[in-house]
This record gives sequence, C-alpha cells and structure tokens, in this order.
Amino acid sequence: MDNTVRIALIPGDGVGYEVMAEARPCLEWAQNRGRAVETIELPYGADHFLATGETLPETAFLHIRDRCDAILFGAVGDPRVPDGRHAEEILLRLRQDLQLTVNFRPCRTPCPTPYPGMENRTPSVDIEVFRENTEGPYCLQGSTEPGRAVDLAIHTESAVHRLLSAAFRRAEATGHPLVLAHKANVLKHGHGLWMRVFEALRREHPQVAARGMHADALLCALVQDPTAFRILAADNYLGDLISDLCAAYIGGMGVAPSLSWAPHRPFRCTALAEPVHGSAPDIAGQGLANPTGMLLGTALLFRHLAWEPEAEALERAVARALSEGARTRDLGGTLSTKAMGQAIRDQLP
Ligand code: NAD
Ligand code: IPM
Ligand code: MN
Repeated sequence: MDNTVRIALIPGDGVGYEVMAEARPCLEWAQNRGRAVETIELPYGADHFLATGETLPETAFLHIRDRCDAILFGAVGDPRVPDGRHAEEILLRLRQDLQLTVNFRPCRTPCPTPYPGMENRTPSVDIEVFRENTEGPYCLQGSTEPGRAVDLAIHTESAVHRLLSAAFRRAEATGHPLVLAHKANVLKHGHGLWMRVFEALRREHPQVAARGMHADALLCALVQDPTAFRILAADNYLGDLISDLCAAYIGGMGVAPSLSWAPHRPFRCTALAEPVHGSAPDIAGQGLANPTGMLLGTALLFRHLAWEPEAEALERAVARALSEGARTRDLGGTLSTKAMGQAIRDQLP
C-alpha cells in the first residue's frame, strides 16, 4: 500500500512566502530521514486572485480534501483586497469545509532566556489554547443594511462537543486544569449551549479539574498571572483573541504556532498547520519576519502525522537556537528570516 504522506503547501500572501521558504527544507529533512512525503505547492493568495479572479478553485479544494493528508499554510491578507474576500474563500473555507473544528494553539516559552523588553514578565508560560475553528461569528453569515449590520454567530452541539472533547482529553492526559472562557451571562443561546456541553463532559471526566470563567474576568486574571493557566478552551472569536494574548507572553506573533484538525476524520485531509500570525504587510518582503511560529507549526504537523521524533527534534532545535541567542528583529535581534531559519535548522540532528 502507498503510505506516502501528501502535503499541500499554500504560502498565501506577504510574509507567508518568507516563512514557508524556511519550512520547506524541514520537510526535506524529514524526507531524508526516511519519511515518505510528497508536497504540492499551490499558488492561492492575493496575487493569484488579482491576476485571475480565482480564490480557491473547486478542483483545487477537492484535490486537497481527497488527495492530500494535510496542509501547511503561510498566511493570507493583502491591502489590495480590502474586504479580505480571498482570505475568507481560502483559509476560512479550508477550515470550515474540511471541518477542522479543533484549533490547537500552544503558547510555551520556547527558551529560558527572556527576550529584550520581557525581562520583568513571567519567565515561563505554558498554555494550550483550544479554539473552535469553524463557527461562532466567523460563519460568514450576516448582512449590512441601512443603519444596521448583522453577523450571525452559529454554534452547533456537534462542533462544540468535538472541540471540548479534545480539550478534556488533553486535560486528562496531562493532568492539567481546564478553563472554558465564555460569556454565557450575556450570550444566553450560543454560550448557553457551550455550558451544557461543558457540564456533560465534566461529568464524564470527573478527574479533570475543569471550570468555566467569564471571558472578561479570565482575561484580567490571565494578564495578571499567566502561570495560573494551562489549558484554555473557547469559541472561535474568544479563542482568536485569547491565543494572540497568550502569544504575547512567549515573544509575540512571530513565534506562536497553530494546528487545526478534524478529530472525526471526515475526509482524507485532516489537518492544517500554520503560524498564528497574519501576512504582516508592514514588514513583508524585507526579510524581517520571524519564521519560528511557522517552524513550530511544522513541528505540530509532524506530531499530527505521528512523526514524534521529528516533531521533538524540530521543537528542540527552535529552543536551542533561541537559547544560543538567535533573534530576528521582533525579538530584539538582527537576523534575517533566512538566517533565523538556518540557525534553527543547524540545530537539527
Ligand atoms: P499580523 O499578524 O499580520 O501582524 C501583526 C503584527 O505582528 C505586525 O506588526 C507584524 O509585523 C507582526 N508580525 C506578524 N508576523 C510576524 C512575524 N512572523 N515576525 C515578526 N513580526 C510579525 O496581523 P494584522 O496586521 O492584523 O493583519 C495583517 C493581514 O493578515 C490582514 O489582512 C489580516 O486579515 C491577515 N491575517 C491573517 C492571518 C492568517 O492567515 N492566519 C492571521 C491574522 C491576520
Ligand atoms: C487567525 C486569523 C484568522 C482568524 C483571520 C485571518 C480570518 O486571525 O488565524 O487567527 O481570525 O481565524
Ligand atoms: Mn487571529
């Protein structure tokens, strides 16, 4: 049987291209270690959209869904497409139509040396954010009317159950406490559903220390002492915000990774790995982007593929390179994207 892993590479826009260029050699490294992997590079992003009018053509979507095992994604977003239509039709569509419900965003201080400007902050944060990835107000249903605008937030029991089950399983496996961020005091319908599913799972997992917190109070507590939290679960919108806040504790947007996956495996393609950051138009094309988030995302992809030795080696390489002082500008250093990528790869076995 052909057990070659097929991965679609979508650099997207802006710094997406620059950080993808640093991830590609890591796939080659895994291949040289004997992993059977094939990649297909797809051009979808703002340039392609502006040149052809295509965002993500149906044939490409079906190819990814049915013939690929996973996607490695850079970032999307371009000022020339101010309504972000291509971002919706590429990234949000992939997350939604592949049912990649569980978005896992670990925020772990990657090295013991504090970054410049962060000396007074807590030295060691280790928080895993489980964000629902397909629904809530990101379901793209709404309308703009004279004097009124509507964004529908849809929450389904199946997706909420899938996301929270993954968070409970992780809490059970690690022994870490789980906190659900919600606003059920106001969002009685949507977050009311979240609370009912959460309570049912709490009864099924009596050994997990699980509690809900109002998201506003949680954010205050999180800023005051991030070490008090280990596993956080949230809907799409709150999870988006919480994951960026947690990223700030570990060095900012350039270092945080993200893996979206479909635990129920509805299609061949079950995962999308990416950095948490966007296309960073303010620094794109200048070699200033930090590739760390992308490479830690690549490590999450390796783990998803059950390539645990490669995942650990890549995470260790990032930690060692940072410990030895490798820094892009966002971390107070002078290395270019390429030099930082190389400094990390130099630490691979
Ligand atoms: P952004 O994440 O692109 O940038 C925010 C800040 O972080 C900027 O100052 C940027 O320079 C910095 N930054 C981002 N990535 C970095 C990296 N690798 N190294 C160093 N610094 C980095 O967010 P934004 O500016 O709000 O959005 C820009 C565009 O990206 C928008 O079109 C937005 O919709 C899109 N976006 C896409 C994604 C995604 O593809 N997953 C995520 C967020 C935003
Ligand atoms: C992210 C981004 C995306 C999101 C945008 C670009 C649609 O902010 O991956 O966190 O909100 O999910
Ligand atoms: Mn975001």
